[in-house]
Amino acid sequence: MQCGQFITFEGIDGSGKSTQAKLAAEFSAHALGENRVLWTREPGDWKGGKHIRELLLHGDLLHCHAELYLFLADRCEHVRQVIEPALARGCLVLCERYCDSTLAYQSWGRNLSRAWIESLFSTSGFPTPNLTLWIDVPVEKAWERLTERGSADRIESEALTFLHSVQKGYAALSEEYPQRIVRIDGTRAPHLVFEDVRSLLKKTLKESFGIAL
Ligand code: TYD
Repeated sequence: MQCGQFITFEGIDGSGKSTQAKLAAEFSAHALGENRVLWTREPGDWKGGKHIRELLLHGDLLHCHAELYLFLADRCEHVRQVIEPALARGCLVLCERYCDSTLAYQSWGRNLSRAWIESLFSTSGFPTPNLTLWIDVPVEKAWERLTERGSADRIESEALTFLHSVQKGYAALSEEYPQRIVRIDGTRAPHLVFEDVRSLLKKTLKESFGIAL
């Protein structure tokens, strides 16, 4: 049974969500103590997960169903081995990418049926995040950042039109779930973006952990 809180970070590649998740993990660990905060990411952040991550990011996958099943297999083990035990211990779980990534990338991006993907989520018993922070950056800006970074992985090497579809997915999901998904303007400097992230974290820390900062 869940007694912790589950927050996910979402956004297209190059949106800066990893930077925000790192800052959020530091801030939360300071408030709650390191052993009550778990910072994790998908795909691959569980024992053995690096093999699936490698296949997903650098393998020669030809069938989009193979890609979907690998992301889901990765999540099954990540949830069972890492996320659920941490929630049961009462931790604040901060996770980079989760089910919204699969909907945005595999349904909006790859045109796979959303109803089918959601039925797989539900039969797999994935917990729903309490809060999702969507770091929103226009595709062109994210693309610029990715180009500066160099060495794109398999998914980052997709055409710009793919990222545009993914972005549409995030926008649609945030409209559909306004209570859970909060859009954050990711075009600003990281410390300014973090001001928004921090105020949402403070709210969770106060309401769910009784810590007023
Ligand atoms: P990663 O290097 O972790 O990138 P990022 O820092 O942008 O998260 O790569 C993960 C890639 O996998 C990213 O391009 C998004 C993609 N992805 C999906 O397509 N579906 C999913 O369900 C997940 C979790 C990730």
